Amino acid sequence: MFNTMTITKAAGAVLGALLFFLLGNWAASALYSIGGDAHGEAEAHAGMTATPGDLLDSGEEDGAAEEQEEVAALALDSGDAAAGEKVFGKCKACHKVDGANATGPHLDGVVGRPVASVDGFAYSNGMVAHGGDWTLEALNEFLIKPKAVVADTKMAFAGLPKEQDRVDLLAYLQSISN
Ligand code: HEC
Repeated sequence: MFNTMTITKAAGAVLGALLFFLLGNWAASALYSIGGDAHGEAEAHAGMTATPGDLLDSGEEDGAAEEQEEVAALALDSGDAAAGEKVFGKCKACHKVDGANATGPHLDGVVGRPVASVDGFAYSNGMVAHGGDWTLEALNEFLIKPKAVVADTKMAFAGLPKEQDRVDLLAYLQSISN
C-alpha cells in the first residue's frame, strides 16, 4: 500500500536525481564547452580520470619544489631585508637597483618580473629559454646555484648555498620590487 508519505518520498527522490543529473550535465558542458554535446560528456569523463593522475604526478616531485616554497615563505615571514641588503653586496658588482643595467640587468622590481625581460639587456639564450616570472621560488632556485638552472648563463656567480642568506636576500629583493 502506498501512503502519501511514500509517494512524496519517491517523487522527491526522482526529482532529486533529475536535478542532480541536470546540474551535472550543466557543469560538464560549462567546463568542457568545446565540441558538441556528445563530446562534452566524453571529455568530462576524460577530465575526471586525468585529475587524480595529475595530483599523483605533482606529489611525486622531488623535494626541490618544497624547498623553493619553504624558502619563499621564510623570506616573507622572517626574512630580514636589512641583512639581505648586506648579502646583496655580493651582487652589486654587476647589478644596480636604480633602473640602469650594468654587467647584469637592473634588479629593482625583479620579484614578479618576467624572466629575461629587461629592454636593452643581452641575455644568454638559456636565460631567454627559462621562461616564467621571477617568483621568490624561482629566484631561490636560481640563486642557490645559477649554472644548475641556466647552464649557459652569463652570470658569473657561484651561488648562495646558505639558506639564511637567500631568505634575507629575497626579503630585500621583495622590498625593492613594490
Ligand atoms: C659577475 C657579475 C654578476 C654577479 C656577481 C651577479 N650577477 Fe646576476 N646576472 C649577471 C648577468 C650577466 C646576468 C644575465 C644572465 C644571463 O643572461 O644568463 C644576471 C642575471 C641575473 C638575474 C636574472 C634577471 C632577469 O632580468 O631575468 C637575477 C635575478 C640575478 N642575476 C640576480 C643576482 C643576485 C641576487 C646576485 C647576488 C647574489 C647576482 N645576480 C650576482 C651578472 C651577475
